[in-house]
Amino acid sequence: MNQIVTLKIVNFGILPLSKIKKITVLGSGIMGHGIAQISAMSAYHVTLRDVEQRFLDNAMNKIRWSLDKLVEKNKINKQESDKIYDKITPVVDLKEALTDTDLLIEAVPEDLKLKKRVYSEVDQFSQEKTIYSSNTSTLPISEISQLTNRPDKFIGLHFFNPPQLMKLVEVIPGANTDNSIVDLGINFVKTLGKNPILCNKDVPGFIVNRIFIPLVHEAAYCLESDGKSMTQIDSSVKFKMFLPMGIFELADYTGLDVIHKATVEMYSRDKNVVNPHPKIEYLFSTGKYGKKSGDGFYSYGDKNYERIQLSEEESKQYDPIRILSVAINNASWLISNNVCTREDLELALKLGMGMKKELFKIGEDFDFKRIENTLNDLKERNGSFYDPDPYLKSISA
Ligand code: 3HC
Repeated sequence: MNQIVTLKIVNFGILPLSKIKKITVLGSGIMGHGIAQISAMSAYHVTLRDVEQRFLDNAMNKIRWSLDKLVEKNKINKQESDKIYDKITPVVDLKEALTDTDLLIEAVPEDLKLKKRVYSEVDQFSQEKTIYSSNTSTLPISEISQLTNRPDKFIGLHFFNPPQLMKLVEVIPGANTDNSIVDLGINFVKTLGKNPILCNKDVPGFIVNRIFIPLVHEAAYCLESDGKSMTQIDSSVKFKMFLPMGIFELADYTGLDVIHKATVEMYSRDKNVVNPHPKIEYLFSTGKYGKKSGDGFYSYGDKNYERIQLSEEESKQYDPIRILSVAINNASWLISNNVCTREDLELALKLGMGMKKELFKIGEDFDFKRIENTLNDLKERNGSFYDPDPYLKSISA
């Protein structure tokens, strides 16, 4: 009987894994609350843990809002929505949150010192059976796993914002992750109705952020130098690069705090992964985090969800060749370095960033030779970050 209910509730996923019944999500922010919600939607019992009750209250309000939206759009009915909501238990006490947990999903801020503190507490209260996973967007899985007493039972499960709508989860094994845990991670993601993509190497930014984060910086350079408005640049990204949001809009939506932290972590490990623009540091240090703080690249009201008006007409005012060239170059790096196949890369961009056309198809339409020339020109003026990747050179020849 339970299983029939499960199948019905799901819509989004398949039956839960028999090994995993209870999930604990640590951190109830943008990602944590969404991960808790989709896990409950796939009939897992979920404990959502944060350090203060007010954070949990806020998270539960967001879950309620999201479930109401899904009801409004006939994805689930009201009764199912209530059932899902009731499957999530918000808890402040860590020991209580970890009792009898099969899978821990850590989604605390991207600060290795903080994670170290969190995992040392988690180790004290976790049972041996508990598998650890981290939703880190940029910190190496091998490094985080070494902070714990079970690097073999540790895996990266990187969700995308909003987890309720984005279908991609990057699965990243660390150096010591046991193969059975990789399989379990992949199967778990499938039970959520999501599409797992294996990231073969634990590189800064994994797959999607290696493309997304540098684009925000590149767009900021374009804004500074090309005499165009944010909405003109964003419209060109939306209508000529086929992203569902403009890049400044997406940065605000993701959060400049998240982007800044990701930049610092990625850049500290590899100077060729991103060319940091000071505007990101400025927005972060002045508390302009984007949608969540009311101000970022754009200004916002207090609605739960707000979009920037972009238009095809405005997109005609700007050629996003520089932004596209950087995206193609970083994508080429991922392929050259066997982090993923070209096929998986395109799927990751489609499911993780909502791209409506294949990146390399867009590149072909813009002409790969022109892209290579643009990069060579940028390299001459700004250094090796822009050095065209061998894979790009091979396809532009
Ligand atoms: N739950 C339920 N419904 C939601 C929701 C949520 N969490 N968030 C938004 N919605 C609803 C909206 O309210 C809207 O409803 P309405 O029609 O009643 O207003 C509906 O979804 C559709 O929204 P839009 O009209 O804006 O339609 P879109 O077709 O543009 O879809 C989107 C929205 C899926 C967010 C799409 O714009 C998109 O894919 N954007 C790109 C997101 C992205 O790139 N994410 C990855 C960022 S990088 C990342 O997360 C990694 C990290 O490590 C940094």
